[in-house]
Amino acid sequence: MPSPIESAIEIAHEAGSLLRQYFERRVRFELKGDFDLVTEADRASEHLIIGRLKALYPDHAILAEEGGGFEKASGYRWYVDPLDGTTNFAHAYPVYNVTLALEKDGELILGVIFDPNRDELFTAEKGSGAYLNGRRIHVSKAPVLNESLFSTGFPSRRRHLDVNIHFYHQLAMASHGVRRCGAAAVDLAYVACGRLDGFWEFGLSPWDMAAGKLLVEEAGGVCTDMKGQPHRLTGPHILTDNGLIHGEIVSLFEEIFRGRYRYAMPSIRPEAGSD
Ligand code: IPD
Ligand code: CA
Ligand code: CA
Repeated sequence: MPSPIESAIEIAHEAGSLLRQYFERRVRFELKGDFDLVTEADRASEHLIIGRLKALYPDHAILAEEGGGFEKASGYRWYVDPLDGTTNFAHAYPVYNVTLALEKDGELILGVIFDPNRDELFTAEKGSGAYLNGRRIHVSKAPVLNESLFSTGFPSRRRHLDVNIHFYHQLAMASHGVRRCGAAAVDLAYVACGRLDGFWEFGLSPWDMAAGKLLVEEAGGVCTDMKGQPHRLTGPHILTDNGLIHGEIVSLFEEIFRGRYRYAMPSIRPEAGSD
């Protein structure tokens, strides 16, 4: 019998190659909410993953984005995002992944993020470090905010209520820049391997964050809420980085929450944009 991490890797590879097949032939999207997309690839991947997990671990609970999971009176719970980056995927923008994590008695014990497009497999087990394609990874060593690169995301649900544009502007001005890759698990994996120095997002779900949170922590980074308090998967916000710049970001965020901006938004002149 394979170990849970071996099973999770095999399942992520299987689901990843299924996603690639759908990606190559293009898929139509449907809407779950105003701008919240879903495709047949999300459903097919979830169906495959849940079928495999159920067969291997019939006593484990599963929480999966497209609703195929179920509760069980067990200390074990899988978090499944069968396709993270659906909007990218539906537009043939090649940044997406499949991500799985396992929790035991409320503590994350393994996480897997597979990006089939770059053939990159990120894995972590509690207490055993984080890995990219089998090689140990660590968070970056960027010592200060103004030498750091970030990523963030903007929700597809209730986006008219989202305040993140304020945080985006302040962080973009204070650092080397802020990316928006469109797949939260990739953002978290990139913090874990040092391609990004930090990532934050308001309004994520547990399946977006579970594997990436363990990866970042096992790679030496930190995850908190937006105010520097301990992160909970049911959060639903996350602020994560290499640990060295955490205090600086929390202070900047604190100011923004109080409505104090270090950098004013430039005003637009009517002639802007013309030669
Ligand atoms: C989304 C992506 C995106 C993030 C959204 C998530 P989905 O997940 O991770 O980057 O900004 O908040 O919902 O819906 O593509 O699985
Ligand atoms: Ca997701
Ligand atoms: Ca998804």
